[in-house]
Amino acid sequence: MEDPVWRGMAVALMAAAILALAIPAAAQSPVQISRAPAGGDAARGEQLYQSRCGACHSLDANRVGPRHRGVFGRRVASVSDFRYSPALRKRSFIWDADMLDRWLANPIALVPGTTMGFRVPAPQDRADIIAWLRSQSAP
Ligand code: HEC
Repeated sequence: MEDPVWRGMAVALMAAAILALAIPAAAQSPVQISRAPAGGDAARGEQLYQSRCGACHSLDANRVGPRHRGVFGRRVASVSDFRYSPALRKRSFIWDADMLDRWLANPIALVPGTTMGFRVPAPQDRADIIAWLRSQSAP
């Protein structure tokens, strides 16, 4: 005896199974060599970087903000041909995961007087962006 409810569920299950097979194939991106810290997804970070930071920054050219390739592990305000704010220039820390996280959460709180006011409120977004910046820096 065929119960129409069970048949409906079987069809729904099959549809779900087909979707589950189809989605990973479609979502696969080219292989990335990432040195992401725990919890950071560099591939997602690249997308976020382009949409959130791209208006002011790029990896290889100074724009409104300084270029970013190599920023992970670099001393703050050390791109020689970029005009940093006096506030940032007088600092002397290294950009590691912790400092980048604090900076992106609230640059003005970390360095009062900085000219970057842009914030990334979500911790996972910050972790992903940091993983991306790290993957574009020397090991
Ligand atoms: C509205 C423009 C703007 C946006 C958007 C922006 N920045 Fe900046 N950023 C700046 C400016 C301007 C500076 C230089 C600040 C200073 O000199 O005080 C800067 C500096 C920095 C620095 C310090 C670099 C160094 O050489 O010491 C880092 C790191 C940074 N930004 C990361 C980011 C990231 C990551 C994003 C995206 C989530 C982002 N910024 C979005 C304008 C921006």
